[in-house]
Amino acid sequence: MYEQVSHSLLNNILIKLNPDIEQQELRHFYTRLGANFYAIHSLFSLLYGDRDDFEEQALQLVETMARQYINRPETLKAKDIEREKDHNWFLNQKWVGMALYTDGFADNLSGLKDKLFYFQELGINMIHIMPILQCPDGKSDGGYAISDFRKVDSRIGTNDDLTDLSEALQKRDILLTLDVVVNHTSNEHEWAARARQGEKKYQDYFYLFDNREIPDMFEETMPEIFPETAPGNFTWDAEMNKWVMTVFNDYQWDLNYSNPAVFIEMLDIILFWSNKGADIIRLDAVAFLWKKIGSACQNEREAHLILQLMKDCCQVTAPGVLFIAEAIVAPVEIIKYFGEDAINAKECEIAYNATLMALLWDAVATKNAKLLYQGLRSLPDKLERATWLNYIRCHDDIGLGFDDADIRAVDYEPKEHRKFLINYYTGNFSDSDARGFPFGANLKTGDARISGSLASLVGLETAQESADPARIINATQHILLLHSLILSFGGIPLLYYGDEIGTLNDCSFLEDEHKAHDSRWTHRPNFDWVNAEQRNHPGTIQYQLFNAIKKMIAVRKEIPAFADFNNRELIHVDNPHLFVFSRFNLTRTAGGVLVVVNFDANPQYLDLNNPNIKAVLSHGHISDLVSGDIPAMFKEQLVIPAYHFYWLTDQQRMS
Ligand code: GLC
Ligand code: GLC
Repeated sequence: MYEQVSHSLLNNILIKLNPDIEQQELRHFYTRLGANFYAIHSLFSLLYGDRDDFEEQALQLVETMARQYINRPETLKAKDIEREKDHNWFLNQKWVGMALYTDGFADNLSGLKDKLFYFQELGINMIHIMPILQCPDGKSDGGYAISDFRKVDSRIGTNDDLTDLSEALQKRDILLTLDVVVNHTSNEHEWAARARQGEKKYQDYFYLFDNREIPDMFEETMPEIFPETAPGNFTWDAEMNKWVMTVFNDYQWDLNYSNPAVFIEMLDIILFWSNKGADIIRLDAVAFLWKKIGSACQNEREAHLILQLMKDCCQVTAPGVLFIAEAIVAPVEIIKYFGEDAINAKECEIAYNATLMALLWDAVATKNAKLLYQGLRSLPDKLERATWLNYIRCHDDIGLGFDDADIRAVDYEPKEHRKFLINYYTGNFSDSDARGFPFGANLKTGDARISGSLASLVGLETAQESADPARIINATQHILLLHSLILSFGGIPLLYYGDEIGTLNDCSFLEDEHKAHDSRWTHRPNFDWVNAEQRNHPGTIQYQLFNAIKKMIAVRKEIPAFADFNNRELIHVDNPHLFVFSRFNLTRTAGGVLVVVNFDANPQYLDLNNPNIKAVLSHGHISDLVSGDIPAMFKEQLVIPAYHFYWLTDQQRMS
């Protein structure tokens, strides 16, 4: 859009740009800057327009984008152009992700490079390497308390190792996802150290207060994220004589985005890692980016404006790079991180589907899909050119973040129901094989979240101890049916390392004083390569799980209806134990798939006369895409065995 004010500012900026920038080949940069500048200017003025130094800051912003464009390797610039041409590239069903810790999976970055065969064997072509940047020893929150945003932690390797890895991944067409922890720094970061020494410039990077007056006002409405280990949202710094806002742990200082210098620094860091070859940047804790007295300090409008601005700026310098929003918040809030009031995604192209994740755990515990269906039905369609990251487990706790209204709609009482789920997964419910641990229990509110590996939460650990074959089968079936859902639902499935071979809880963290208090380490294992070797031996659980998941991944990649274009229809069925949805091709003519999952311990029946089911399947020619089997039918009803799933197609309509 051509708008006079923003363009006259742009003209001023272009005149003032440093001469060394002028001398570069910037044709694509200028085209994109021209296209996005109206939006960039509007957002930047909404956030910072009342400052005297606004124009200077805007100049800084443009210089940052230009310099990183100049630094961007030619191969990545070429990839940007390719992706601009095929701008829906990431909605394709071919992408399948896995999240892992470098040191947990392979010691270090160069070791990880030697393990790429494992991803290729399984069919993984997107990896999210958990944070690898420099952190203090001990007080690191698993890599999320960063003391140098531009340096790989020496325990994991060097920046050059990362470049090598990224080149090796590119050759194999595997996408690289890296974290940028945008909300906070470690208290040992240089900015924090300089703030402590009294430098005003860096004090303005954080939220610092001389006394409790303002912190107390904030506390009235701010929830606690780690109530057991880091109660309250402020920490006294004796050296500086000030209170520091620390929403997460006391050693994680929240960055102050009402200061444009902070925004520009973080944008520069995002572009720095984009230029190191990240295809996707995971933006951590984005819901927390804006703090306002009298609010929960989550999901504020300005947090969205900041993300929109980051996206618009990144599109100018590195348009091929995508953002993942890590916003583990209420269902109606999560979807806003794609961007609101826009036809195309204007914030993050990808967001964690924490709603689906939590609802899946509900269905496992209740053995029915009532809340799963209800919760997903309430979730609005996402924008075009946006997609979910569908996951069962990640490195964090499981929060029961579904909506109270949905819980009531299926006739449970919210508080009691949540209590039941916590008890079910943490060993306080007699009829449960689950072995998890509470996380973040808050005595004031009664809330708690859940830790534990997928396999242990679905009962594999208990079953193996009891050596009961039937219980072992139940547990492995659960692992498969949950994977069948994240692989077919629509979006990028994100597997969690070790789940594909049934990795159990790992309690070795209890011996480490820096980890012992944080039960999330239960499910952040050291990958056991000897155990993984069992995947090659028929008859083992590792073999069964690994090969079944591998098969599902291969089938997914062949089915265009599994691409993500809002081409899913949830189907209401009378049987509450079943969860049913269809995936259709955009033409709706052929190639549709009916996904059916039975969460119950007994076989269940599906009435094929349901018109929505008939639209995908016509009787008689139904088969399961994964096994190739023709499922059992009884009196026009399809029989779904206990804890079983089907990806059904009509053979006659496939072609
Ligand atoms: C994100 C991370 C989590 C971390 C938190 C604070 O939510 O996923 O592991 O504790 O941010 O950095
Ligand atoms: C924050 C925490 C994460 C937790 C989430 C929901 O994002 O970092 O650990 O899962 O809140 O409670």
